[in-house]
Amino acid sequence: WILMTTAQTPTNIAVIKYWGKRDENLILPINDSISVTLDPEHLCTTTTVAVSPSFDRDRMWLNKKEISLSSDRYQRCLREIRSRANDFEDEKKGIKITKKDWENLHVHIDSYNNFPTAAGLASSAAGFACFVFSLARLMNVKEDLGKLSAIARQGSGSACRSLYGGFVKWNMGKNDDGSDSVAVQLADEKHWDDLVIIIAVVSSRQKETSSTTGMRETVETSKLIQHRAKVFLCPLTCLIHLNISPYRINRVTNKDNRRLVSELHLIFLILILARVQSFRIIGCVEKWNSAEGSPQAAYTFDAGPNAVLIARNRKVAALLLQRLLFHFPPHPDTDLDSYVIGDKSI
Ligand code: DP6
Repeated sequence: WILMTTAQTPTNIAVIKYWGKRDENLILPINDSISVTLDPEHLCTTTTVAVSPSFDRDRMWLNKKEISLSSDRYQRCLREIRSRANDFEDEKKGIKITKKDWENLHVHIDSYNNFPTAAGLASSAAGFACFVFSLARLMNVKEDLGKLSAIARQGSGSACRSLYGGFVKWNMGKNDDGSDSVAVQLADEKHWDDLVIIIAVVSSRQKETSSTTGMRETVETSKLIQHRAKVFLCPLTCLIHLNISPYRINRVTNKDNRRLVSELHLIFLILILARVQSFRIIGCVEKWNSAEGSPQAAYTFDAGPNAVLIARNRKVAALLLQRLLFHFPPHPDTDLDSYVIGDKSI
């Protein structure tokens, strides 16, 4: 027999970034973060997991290519899920699996991203969230989403936020074992439902610096990063960043777009992850906002060159896209591949 299940998990875009770890093994952050979960149509991972007594080892395929499951991140997630597996019975199919059986049964995992992997589009967020969620369903794990988020976090920090739709906060937590470092939903996908996110895929090549390395280097070399975590952003981390002053954290989900935009404008730049096109796009949005006299759109980046543009409603999004297509049409000769539109989603 073979038992399988499929799940789909969208990616998320942080409006208050997670940057820096206090524990690299358990993936515990040095600050709270807030993100918006996107529509799965354009930016999601679909994962099918299967179990059968005929499988002789755990195996995984990512975008149709077999990959190794030996990294600590995969192993930790697998172990955590297996240890919470429950009895399962399907009388019709004659399948009966006890809690104990799961320890010796192997799984096959087939995962597919409908967007460029590791190009700064948070593929690890959707990937690990889907990995954990689909395995939890297969193994009849009864834990709530908060507990599952703490497991997904151990695959990739930002993954914990992808288990919920709408606006999601990852509480950094205080405990050494990470038990309180979980994601919670702040507002569901119906909140600010006309918010539109446009991602200018500046380059679909794999990013040169991973978030993990960038964060480590920041924590090791920046005198200001601890200050940022507590009070204000420092201008030295390895990405174009948002303001994350804790006293502002509650305001981000406020529907007042002016506030969101002003949060988003308090950014800082480290050039290695961005490209010329990224800066041109920022310039275009800035110019448009000042010409309109009030903020229409905001921008952010996730450890890569792709500009993530946030429009306050569909009308603004349509106008913005028009401008972008006029000034920066995607072309094989330029660094601009395409535009991906994402709505908030469940
Ligand atoms: C810039 O979650 O990819 O997107 O925990 O090392 O896997 P690891 O890092 P990852 O970092 C995401 C960083 C970010 C900001 C964010 O999503 O909050």
